[in-house]
Amino acid sequence: MAVITCIEDLKALHRRRVPRMFFDYCESGSWTESTMRANEDALTALALKQRVAVNLEGRSIASTMIGQDVAMPVALAPTGLTGMQHADGEILAARAAARFGVPFTLSTMSICSIEDVAENTDSPFWFQLYVMRDRGFIGRLIDRAKAAGCSALVLTLDLQIMGQRHKDIKNGLSTPPKLNLGSFAEMASKPRWSLKMLGTRRRSFGNIVGHAEGVENLTSLGQWSAEQLDPTLSWDDVQWVKERWGGKLVLKGIMTVEDARHAVASGADALVVSNHGGRQLDGAPASIDVLPEIVATVGDEIEVWVDGGIRSGQDVVRCLALGAKGTLVGRAFLYGLGAMGEAGVTRCLEIIANELDLTMAFCGLRDVRDIDRHVLWGA
Ligand code: GLV
Repeated sequence: MAVITCIEDLKALHRRRVPRMFFDYCESGSWTESTMRANEDALTALALKQRVAVNLEGRSIASTMIGQDVAMPVALAPTGLTGMQHADGEILAARAAARFGVPFTLSTMSICSIEDVAENTDSPFWFQLYVMRDRGFIGRLIDRAKAAGCSALVLTLDLQIMGQRHKDIKNGLSTPPKLNLGSFAEMASKPRWSLKMLGTRRRSFGNIVGHAEGVENLTSLGQWSAEQLDPTLSWDDVQWVKERWGGKLVLKGIMTVEDARHAVASGADALVVSNHGGRQLDGAPASIDVLPEIVATVGDEIEVWVDGGIRSGQDVVRCLALGAKGTLVGRAFLYGLGAMGEAGVTRCLEIIANELDLTMAFCGLRDVRDIDRHVLWGA
């Protein structure tokens, strides 16, 4: 196998090894995908400022996110269907994250259940919540996350209805894939993936099927979002979730100063400036482009994190430069997972950490917590 030196290498392997339906699910944005592209492009456009002849010995990229020590200010984002990129994917990614010293966030729409991930890992992880119409089920889901020892709840606010992703519709995305001539041929051409998938019992939505009343046969995200998600979700419901949970709370999907103020008023511990990786409101700006005004308005009152388009340690530096205290990466770790399972997620984290460390040093800094606007041109 060729030497893996960057996230792009992992992506190329992911594309080769994982059935197209799931690679495309990872790669999709909604409608024209302009926001998804904007996320990456806006980061790349931020030019970094080289400094020279400063002491670069004894560097540190360690930091904290909501009071938890992190090896670098990068958490694994919640991503749906992670266990379809690689058999037992959530367990493998959680293990890689724990060994590396960064948080892993388990999606409500995971394949491995909360309990399953907890039983098969030794460090606490974060749980991401979608609020559904069946509040009894949501209450129990929050309690399950608590019982499993999850150390933060990440409440996603921007997916009560779902953005249309053309590729998923065209591919007939379903979990597990429906068996027909086309999907059979596709799986036969991905023997690594298929053999591992045949060897696991984890092939449907582990947190939901058999837990939510009347949901025995849930195969598509589209079906799930139309039938289960609660489109009436309000800031009062955020309070309800906060009280029921009682622990650290992160609100994800904030793109305006107005909503950031609501997030502060809710008493949450952190907010994530996010457009859901360009998968929801197509036409929204890049998340990095709205980060500075949100930091300027509420940055003293709540931890502000950002996600969307982060594919390198250079990108992490750019986010920190514009005031983020932490970042989340989704697609980048999925490339690693799809490419090489747990080792691929570890490789993804190593690549980002190494790039972050060296980039910070080229900018003349030794401590990741000192990164600010001065590392950017024009700031
Ligand atoms: C789910 O969170 C998705 O974006 O597909």
